[in-house]
Amino acid sequence: MAGSTPASQLLAAARGLLPLAAARYSDFRVAAVLEDASGAVHPGVNVESVSYGLTLCAERSALSGALARGANIFRRLAVVSERLKPVLPCGACRQVLLEYAPDLIIVVEGADGRAEEIPLRDLLPRPFTRLEAAP
Ligand code: THU
Repeated sequence: MAGSTPASQLLAAARGLLPLAAARYSDFRVAAVLEDASGAVHPGVNVESVSYGLTLCAERSALSGALARGANIFRRLAVVSERLKPVLPCGACRQVLLEYAPDLIIVVEGADGRAEEIPLRDLLPRPFTRLEAAP
């Protein structure tokens, strides 16, 4: 995208958030930045609970914060973890992200360190998105 922040810079911003991840049980730190239509980025980290199923992933954490700040159109989401390259959004995050940002591009860091950009739609084909048939 002309004039936009390089994907590598979004990944670097996400990496900078890793120390804030509240990964006290798994020690698997994940951080994300969600870029909105204005180019502003919204931070997210994973937030774990001792009741493990209540854990919030970094991706949904970024989305929640962004919506709470009034952003509602999103371009890209960069996600990184300390240990695994690339780390891809889990199924639950794919579902929720798709509902709020169907045209989102997911930016991940490949094993070689290079940025890879993947349309979210490719990660969740044939999604469940509505309760009634389209008119
Ligand atoms: N996690 C994320 O935050 N995002 C992902 O895409 C994968 C998993 C978190 C959830 C949990 O805190 C830890 O990683 C281990 O599953």
